[in-house]
Amino acid sequence: MMRVLKLLSALLLLSPLPPGFSHVMNQFSDVPHCDGFFLDGITPDFPGILVNGIIQHQNRYKPICQFFNNTYRFATLYDTTNRIPVFSAYTFTGTGGRGRPRNQRWMIEPQLNVGDSKSMKTDPGKDLYELQAGNMDYNNSITINGVNRGHLFPSSHAPDEDTKRSTFTLTNIVPQAVTFNGGSWNKMENKVRDILQNQCIDNNDMIKAHVVTGAVPSVNNKLNKRVNIPSHMWTAYCCYNNNLKRWMSEAHWGENKQNSSTTNHTLAELYSWLGKQHNGVVKVFSDLCPTGVSTIPATTNPNTASTLLPPKAQNLFFFHTIIMVTMSTIQLV
Ligand SMILES: *[C@@H]1O[C@H](CO)[C@@H](O)[C@H](O)[C@H]1NC(C)=O
Ligand SMILES: *[C@@H]1O[C@H](CO)[C@@H](O)[C@H](O)[C@H]1NC(C)=O
Ligand SMILES: *[C@@H]1O[C@H](CO)[C@@H](O)[C@H](O)[C@H]1NC(C)=O
Ligand SMILES: *[C@@H]1O[C@H](CO)[C@@H](O)[C@H](O)[C@H]1NC(C)=O
Repeated sequence: MMRVLKLLSALLLLSPLPPGFSHVMNQFSDVPHCDGFFLDGITPDFPGILVNGIIQHQNRYKPICQFFNNTYRFATLYDTTNRIPVFSAYTFTGTGGRGRPRNQRWMIEPQLNVGDSKSMKTDPGKDLYELQAGNMDYNNSITINGVNRGHLFPSSHAPDEDTKRSTFTLTNIVPQAVTFNGGSWNKMENKVRDILQNQCIDNNDMIKAHVVTGAVPSVNNKLNKRVNIPSHMWTAYCCYNNNLKRWMSEAHWGENKQNSSTTNHTLAELYSWLGKQHNGVVKVFSDLCPTGVSTIPATTNPNTASTLLPPKAQNLFFFHTIIMVTMSTIQLV
């Protein structure tokens, strides 16, 4: 009987559990809230990483639906080998003041260490973590590597105090050259924020834009021999401008080195450049978003645009069945 029980518990461990049973996600679509952070509910395509909503190497790339103080705040795809995010995706709905939240300590992601809480938590800074960067990795980062903690989703783009705080998870952070972080990248973030606030007003008169910001890992440049120092950082937004009755998008990227500048591009240019970095076809937004110079008149009303249904319904049913069968077998023995 022991052997049967062991076998059954192994089976339970092996079967991908639906949300509610475990906080470990396998795909972004496992958490329905996460769909909302992506334009039209569609996740980006990165060859070998994430294609058509399916993560290609599930042991390495982990989807995180960032959860803080009882609310999902944004989405991150995390690379547990490089210990940096591939991208963070968020919905911009205006900003809750310009300042940084006070006394916010850096946080880590318990769910990367299997079966713990889905809510991010403060990193005491006393450990190095196998599957993610921790505060200790950044101990002497400025003196040794000239890098500090660079946000992908910046707190200055967050709508309220709690969402600002949630951006201080190290899963949303890459080692960024100090003068790039505080220089051209910061200027670009502020300019983009102003554009989003003033132009991304939809037909309900609400500020709304989708933003995805990511990092291109370097070949072998590391912080603390553990955390990849990316070679480049990039960002793109897409929104509907009801005043001009058209979709608009813009992309920016820059090399991650001191005094580096960021350049302003169309989405098509970003896709082509990222495609070269990733050796394949890269897409950041759904086809709703025009990729050329943003002068294309809208053909689709954003508020009636189809939202994709989570494709997991059938799978969930299957796993529920496995678990129910397993449970009743346990009762039998
Ligand atoms: C969590 O949210 C509640 C309700 O919005 C708020 O009152 C509280 O200050 C928040 N707590 C933290 C730690 O941010
Ligand atoms: C980082 O700093 C803390 C406290 O200053 C220290 O305890 C720890 O040993 C340092 N870790 C590394 C990896 O340098
Ligand atoms: C990017 O270039 C466009 C076209 O010249 C301009 O309208 C926009 O303000 C620029 N964006 C930023 C963030 O500089
Ligand atoms: C960056 O710019 C500063 C101020 O202009 C200059 O002192 C410094 O040498 C530059 N650093 C590099 C690596 O170019």
